[in-house]
Amino acid sequence: MAEKNITVFIYLPGETVAVPAGIFTHDSRAGVGSFVYGRKYQERANALPVDPVALPLGPEPLPVTANHGLYGAFRDAAPDYWGRLVIAAERKVPPEALGEMDFLVCANATRAGNLDFRETPDSPEPALEPPHFNHLAELLDAASKIETGKEVSQHLLRLLRQGSSVGGARPKCTVEWEDALWIAKFPAKDDTLNIPRVEYAAMTLAAKCGIRVPTMRLQSVGGKAVLLVRRFEREKTGNGWLRTGFFSSLSLMQWDEMDRLAWDYGAIADTMRRHTTVRDIQEWFRRMVFNILVRNTDDHPRNHGFLLDASGIRLSPAYDIVPSITRPGVGVDFSLAMSIGEQGRTATLENALTRSARFGLSKNEAKEEVEKLVGIVGTWREHFASAGCPDSEIRALEPSFLCLDMAV
Ligand SMILES: Nc1ncnc2c1ncn2[C@@H]1O[C@H](COP(=O)(O)OP(=O)(O)OP(=O)(O)O)[C@@H](O)[C@H]1O
Ligand SMILES: [Mg+2]
Repeated sequence: MAEKNITVFIYLPGETVAVPAGIFTHDSRAGVGSFVYGRKYQERANALPVDPVALPLGPEPLPVTANHGLYGAFRDAAPDYWGRLVIAAERKVPPEALGEMDFLVCANATRAGNLDFRETPDSPEPALEPPHFNHLAELLDAASKIETGKEVSQHLLRLLRQGSSVGGARPKCTVEWEDALWIAKFPAKDDTLNIPRVEYAAMTLAAKCGIRVPTMRLQSVGGKAVLLVRRFEREKTGNGWLRTGFFSSLSLMQWDEMDRLAWDYGAIADTMRRHTTVRDIQEWFRRMVFNILVRNTDDHPRNHGFLLDASGIRLSPAYDIVPSITRPGVGVDFSLAMSIGEQGRTATLENALTRSARFGLSKNEAKEEVEKLVGIVGTWREHFASAGCPDSEIRALEPSFLCLDMAV
């Protein structure tokens, strides 16, 4: 049957058990989805929208055709390439055999944000049983077997499945540790550098630049580096986990994943102006400039997020900032994934300065900000060394930092 109805649940602020918010109907053949809020839900004094842009409380919701008929915030709560691979492995089918709704419903309680998707309004609360940190060695083993298409025991698959519902393409698993949830990001089979360590170094350098980042730890597990990133939308309380709403900048803009030509930092800044603070917009500019300086070309709109709670919408801590590798002398010019300024995606500091007013900055303020960032990122070699990167790795990363030499 092409059409399917499921119940959308939400964990409201301060609550550790979800309530039904409405019904989502999805026609997989037509690629159309539509949602209606339940009347009882809308009468709640503390009701939050399940998607603040596509589905505000009040007006009659419009159907969605973008992203295979999924509202942005729903898509953000579904697994991506990695989670889908794990779900398909557990079901012993190829990932193509499962549809968007299968992945949406069978993702478990470690999914991103404060939403849940269940078969009926009476479906029970799913158990949140992420593996403990102590299981990381087994999880790494299971993940590398999945990546290489090897058989994984049911026991290991179950363990990995319990934590594999957040998005992203790289191997990872949510684990519980020190009364918090962390996304453990693993090495991947085709990595040429120690990516968890490089990501740790880049993210902690971002923090030095005034970019808010989650708490992170770099751990060695059986000789392999694992980056633990604390989940910023979950908090443990006496009787369970509190969850904050999360949605990506793709959803803020209601862009389709294929709308690449529309992706634009300035357009996101314009929309942020209606929802969030000047401070967030100025940090947004900082994140864009930082991505240029460290050559983070995987800055697509699902790699930027927003949090939603009773106080409104705010920029989430940054995540997934990793310098992309390039060979010396090859590809000196590069582009980011989203448009930066008047010269489109061209990744130069000059281009970043062409539209400062859209980011709530005067020309001079923007220039000062860029100079400050150039100064801090200019210490990247010492910073990466102090994060444990050996000389060979720092040499390999040199060509990724060439924007530092551009005059502004
Ligand atoms: N600290 C965090 N707290 C909560 N959610 C997070 C956090 N970091 C990342 N996420 C969510 O998990 C998803 C996957 O994380 P991340 O982007 O780091 O993985 P990735 O596999 O490297 O991604 P990509 O496919 O873009 O390379 C993000 O898109 C975001 O929805
Ligand atoms: Mg990502």
